[in-house]
Amino acid sequence: MPTHTIIEPFRIKSVEPIRFTSREEREGLLAAAGWNLFSLRAEDVIIDLLTDSGTGAMSSEQWAAIMRGDESYAGARSFERFRDVVQELTGYAEVIPTHQGRAAERILFGAIATEGDVIPNNTHFDTTRANVEFQGAEARDLVCTEGRDLQVEAPFKGNVDLEALEALLRDEGHRVPVVMVTITNNSGGGQPVSLENLRGVRELCDRYDTPFFLDACRFAENAWFVREREDGQGDRHPRDIAKEVFRLADGCTISLKKDGLANIGGLLAMQDPELAARCRDDLILTEGFPTYGGLAGRDLDALAVGLVEVTDPDYLRYRVRTAEYLAEKAWEAGVPTVRPPGGHAVYLDAGALLPHIAPHELPAQALANELYLEGGVRGVEIGTLMFGRPDPDGGPDAPAPHELVRLALPRRMYTQSHVDYVGEVIASVAERAADLRGYRVVEQPRWLRHFTAQLEPLA
Ligand code: F0G
Repeated sequence: MPTHTIIEPFRIKSVEPIRFTSREEREGLLAAAGWNLFSLRAEDVIIDLLTDSGTGAMSSEQWAAIMRGDESYAGARSFERFRDVVQELTGYAEVIPTHQGRAAERILFGAIATEGDVIPNNTHFDTTRANVEFQGAEARDLVCTEGRDLQVEAPFKGNVDLEALEALLRDEGHRVPVVMVTITNNSGGGQPVSLENLRGVRELCDRYDTPFFLDACRFAENAWFVREREDGQGDRHPRDIAKEVFRLADGCTISLKKDGLANIGGLLAMQDPELAARCRDDLILTEGFPTYGGLAGRDLDALAVGLVEVTDPDYLRYRVRTAEYLAEKAWEAGVPTVRPPGGHAVYLDAGALLPHIAPHELPAQALANELYLEGGVRGVEIGTLMFGRPDPDGGPDAPAPHELVRLALPRRMYTQSHVDYVGEVIASVAERAADLRGYRVVEQPRWLRHFTAQLEPLA
């Protein structure tokens, strides 16, 4: 196109009003929520960047497909349409729908992992780690060196450290029932994994005779990065790249709430019929019959369309550019972010912006809360509130490795002016960065405290 602006590749047919609030109102609302953004009502948020999971907008074709939903208990046409699209995309023979990603993870690890096993991954997402650990196995993160450095610019910071993986398979291979790779690497900043790296993983898994599974929630965004950044890939259609990636692995778990472009859904798929049979036993016990697996027929139909739409190059160009555009706004305001920006989110570096707030005083929570107070923008803290360890003797929490605020972009939901607005909110908070104060935890549960902890601003 001759123009510079990458426009949203869609028109809006149905709108959802946004309720505006004043700073004064938001101060009251956040105080009443115990200074925890998870406790706010969605209605009190102006721009909601809490997650890109299940929050996107469906297309008119998806809404039309909803009407075709076949709600038969067994053998529904909706399942056939879903299975056909998944098989065309992945090449996997066995297609098992689940209600969301973590159900697929639980079933897979329940079927193949036992106490004392080690499951490697570039970086386990929280639910993946929890499901591995629930089986008594160890979740081991083997992301490459550049992936651990927030600021270094590298094209594929989600890559697996192949030397470390080889050492693990060589020395402790008998304890490794599966090798996982997450595309894109959400917990590592939404960073992509290269085709070359995935081929390397395949080669090692062949050599050590170990199955290779993808956590492929954001497979389409990963394919776009491969096309844009990897030598020799620039002329390929993102769907062809995605197809090749799936065919390098033996199976996958997917939260279809991301690149499935729908509001609910998950998938466990694989080549091995024997493993699939064991997984289906668990599915019937906990999720539902194998042709719906915890979903309505209409959900399967919406997914069958979403899984085709998501690899459209115009959509992916706009999608990845949106995150980059928001990151540029943060940089212009002097706010460092994880570099380069990920596919689905921008991660603001609160540790660098607020050096005067010690980790146990929750600098990333201070930034996340201030973005809400300033402009009604809701992100999520990924720092010491989420990952720090409370001290058993009442001392300061052990800090998390980084203090980040993730601003995740729901798919096809906000326009460029919404993003401009978020950029302005970031800039006006950054101007007053030195005045921001930390928080202390007043009340917290034993597990996953960031969801429900009650906080208090420090004087
Ligand atoms: N794997 C990855 C890489 C994820 O990002 C998620 C969810 C899951 C698995 C679990 O899927 O939620 O459908 O059970 N990530 C969301 C997020 C919640 O906000 O990043 P689920």
